[in-house]
Amino acid sequence: MKTVATILLCMAALPALASEATNQMFDSYRAEGAGEFSAERGKGMWTQTFKQQKSGQPVSCTTCHTGNLQQTGAHVRTGKVIEAMSARTNAERFNETKKIRKWFLRNCKWTLGRECTAQEKGDYLTYFLSE
Ligand code: HEC
Repeated sequence: MKTVATILLCMAALPALASEATNQMFDSYRAEGAGEFSAERGKGMWTQTFKQQKSGQPVSCTTCHTGNLQQTGAHVRTGKVIEAMSARTNAERFNETKKIRKWFLRNCKWTLGRECTAQEKGDYLTYFLSE
């Protein structure tokens, strides 16, 4: 029933509530086998440093997003402003599953050198919604 309502909402092109998109993401991560999600684990990975594949430089998610979810960041290469990640300060955040998928794919590859697992994405998302 919830899925039907969500599909109808999307078809009507109404802006979905943040909780709808994120609930859908959590459901799909669980369907992929993820267990309980942890904001603490998400935060740990958010600040963890990896070796960027192309440049060889140490990078983390905070390289572009800063270590504070409430703060505006900047793309490390282009300097383009990246609005705050926190849904509390930025109502535009996490309200489109397509956007969430696209950027998790791109940014995990860029930062970690691989795709994130369903568990990792669920942990990140739980952290994003916690601060
Ligand atoms: C090289 C710069 C850069 C790095 C590093 C980076 N991001 Fe991003 N991220 C962006 C940009 C640019 C956007 C799209 C613009 C926006 O949403 O403000 C974005 C958007 C996102 C979004 C979409 C949010 C939404 O509103 O739906 C997610 C999720 C995300 N990033 C997660 C991550 C995670 C997790 C990491 C670390 C593994 C990470 N990012 C590292 C640049 C980066």
